[in-house]
Amino acid sequence: MKVTVVGAGAVGASCAEYIAIKNFASEVVVLDIKEGFAEGKAMDLMQTASLNGFDTKITGVTNDYSKTAGSDIAIITSGIPRKPGMTREELIGINAGIVKTVSSSLIEHSPNVILIVVSNPMDTMTYLVHKTTGLPKNRIIGMGGALDSARFKYRLAEALEAPISDVDGMVIGGHSDTGMVPLTAHATRNSIKVSEFLSEERLEQVAADTKVGGATLTKLLGTSAWYAPGAAVSGLVQAIACDQKKMFPCSALLEGEYGLDDICIGVPVLLGKNGIEKIVNIDLTEAEKAKMQESAEGVRKTNGLLSL
Ligand code: LAC
Repeated sequence: MKVTVVGAGAVGASCAEYIAIKNFASEVVVLDIKEGFAEGKAMDLMQTASLNGFDTKITGVTNDYSKTAGSDIAIITSGIPRKPGMTREELIGINAGIVKTVSSSLIEHSPNVILIVVSNPMDTMTYLVHKTTGLPKNRIIGMGGALDSARFKYRLAEALEAPISDVDGMVIGGHSDTGMVPLTAHATRNSIKVSEFLSEERLEQVAADTKVGGATLTKLLGTSAWYAPGAAVSGLVQAIACDQKKMFPCSALLEGEYGLDDICIGVPVLLGKNGIEKIVNIDLTEAEKAKMQESAEGVRKTNGLLSL
């Protein structure tokens, strides 16, 4: 299993690190445009191998896509991250051009690759990859929902004063401050609905804190987060590499599911060796359905900024 990570910034390096630590991939190639940067990150990470007990071989390359040839999975993290006060949507001008070039270069050398898009605005970048590469829809996956769901579980556990492993929940919709739809009515603590333990008001606060999860970190860090994004990506990659058929909310091209068409947006999917093996249709409450439609409007507005 060969995995390429494009972008050796904080998110890309964190993806490479978590993938390597989980020890399921034989090879991870990290590529960056900045001379020597990916090589340095790869060397530093390789020097953790004996300490962390992994055998994955990590190499770094400066913009040489021939070294990514034969990748089974590639992760696109390239582009600029947001600064405090910025929305993910404001990154579109610069990141669209980068994501377009990166995805076509990857496919040129790895025609069977499964792409995971992380660059923001992620749902629109995923849609752009669909529109410009012609790859089958099961092989283009946007990573946002897995991260947002992890942030949701963190906030739920905090509100419940429970360990995170007792909590389950999912966030669907667009990966944006306004577009996320945390499924509070479906969230559980040890299979019991969280509404048994938390007031409606408290749950609304949990949802609100989840939606600005990334923005809160950007404000604290001065740039966007990397540990949880990297860990979320590694979960997706592992599900594909190990053919787990594991469910994650991911940005997928919809063709009628959830009443939506010609849009990439977060919905629950099963990930296995073919990438998106199935889009899972779940019964949403009327309120959730309305939020999903509203979220789709927001994503479409950003998609409208693309020059396709
Ligand atoms: C975040 C970025 C990865 O939410 O979109 O932290």
